[in-house]
Amino acid sequence: MSEAVISRDVARWGIPELRGHSIPGSRYTSKEFAEQEWEQMWTKAWLLLGRESELPNYGDWQMEEVGPESIIMVRQEDGSVKAFYNVCQHRGNPLVDEEKGSAKRFVCRYHSWAFMPDGSLNFAPDRHDFPQGDPCDHVRLAELRCDTFAGFVWVNMDPDCISLKEYLGPIWEDWQRWEIQNWRRYVGLTTELPCNWKVVLDNFNESYHVPTVHLGATIKTNRRKVFSNVNTNVDETLFDMSEEGQNRMIMEGGYAAGQTDKMGNIMEPMASELRFWNMDPADFKGRPEDTRLALQKAKREQGPKRGYTHYDNLPDAALTDAFHYTLFPNFAVSVWADGFHFLRARPHPNGDPQQCVFDNWWYCSQPEGEKAPVSTQIGPLPRNHPDEHIKFKYGERSMGKTIDEDMAVFIMQQRGFRSRGFKGVYLAQQENRVSRYHELIDDYIEGRRPLKKKKTK
Ligand code: FES
Ligand SMILES: [Fe+2]
Repeated sequence: MSEAVISRDVARWGIPELRGHSIPGSRYTSKEFAEQEWEQMWTKAWLLLGRESELPNYGDWQMEEVGPESIIMVRQEDGSVKAFYNVCQHRGNPLVDEEKGSAKRFVCRYHSWAFMPDGSLNFAPDRHDFPQGDPCDHVRLAELRCDTFAGFVWVNMDPDCISLKEYLGPIWEDWQRWEIQNWRRYVGLTTELPCNWKVVLDNFNESYHVPTVHLGATIKTNRRKVFSNVNTNVDETLFDMSEEGQNRMIMEGGYAAGQTDKMGNIMEPMASELRFWNMDPADFKGRPEDTRLALQKAKREQGPKRGYTHYDNLPDAALTDAFHYTLFPNFAVSVWADGFHFLRARPHPNGDPQQCVFDNWWYCSQPEGEKAPVSTQIGPLPRNHPDEHIKFKYGERSMGKTIDEDMAVFIMQQRGFRSRGFKGVYLAQQENRVSRYHELIDDYIEGRRPLKKKKTK
């Protein structure tokens, strides 16, 4: 299987020139560096923060934290979404402390100032008693830039930021094809992790670790033969990086190599996936690599009739392969034909650079007539009830086998970054998304972020 097999129907983005970069351990441990990141990058980049389906009706709201900030996203009367800092403009009390709700007015629990869903102040007790004038005439909640895309709510704390569409670059068109806005969350696990948030993102910016950490490869293993449900061979993986700072990696999936027993019989979960698409796993005995194209053909023919209408928008590769994206600064996702593996890391609210908050969620397509998510690609994850969100501290429960394996490394690596003996990273070509990502952080810190064009008179 060669690169051409994936790429013939996938438009490429290209790979921008890299400057080359030094990445010392202090980037993951220093409070001073974390403060620079916060002031220059987190408060200026577009952040994927909420989900539109959490806000179906006027006044519905969702609150999410990013580092020290907490942000409320609210459905407006005209159907749009606005985002506000979660802080009362009287004397600074946070307005809400739950994750979500519905409000006719946000009433502060300190002195009862009441803000409308559009941020205007509607009521203040003793409003005649303010020498500077009635606060209802002057005061509003502090608003952030906010936009929606792919069913998610995105915010930016920088009033001078470029539009979300410009920021996302090729993601804007790429993602439309899956119709992700209609997908529903089936796994919602959030944990606090004792590592810097970049440890998480670095890991999802490379697949170099996959054979060692997830597939049991040793130094004696022939890595070309290490296959799982995805083909991890670097020479057969497609890498793209956009000028805007977004990355993509495509790995062949539906491959079934590594999913046969000694007799060559196809094992689970591939066997179930083949049956789901009306094929007999026995027909592929000894030929697991043939499952990929057979699945593409079956999904293409049967999918739209069975409610998988988004297949009509997708290239063949996207019917079986893993389209893995990392969005600057803190979001990684593997998009499968029917599954969206959502991985996000945020700085910890307590300001400690050696801690972060990590989300491991799955969204699945909702074809009409299907009761459960079809995605056999979710694998043996601990599924919770749709829309349920479980928060816990690292170690209190599993995040699923693969992510547990990643997290065990994150924590050890954070220890290594504290060592005076660590001389800085030494990266392979296939890790150049890690380089690019750190270059972008420095671009923001050093004042080279993209800015909206000033209107000329
Ligand atoms: S701080 Fe909110 S009403 Fe006083
Ligand atoms: Fe991993």
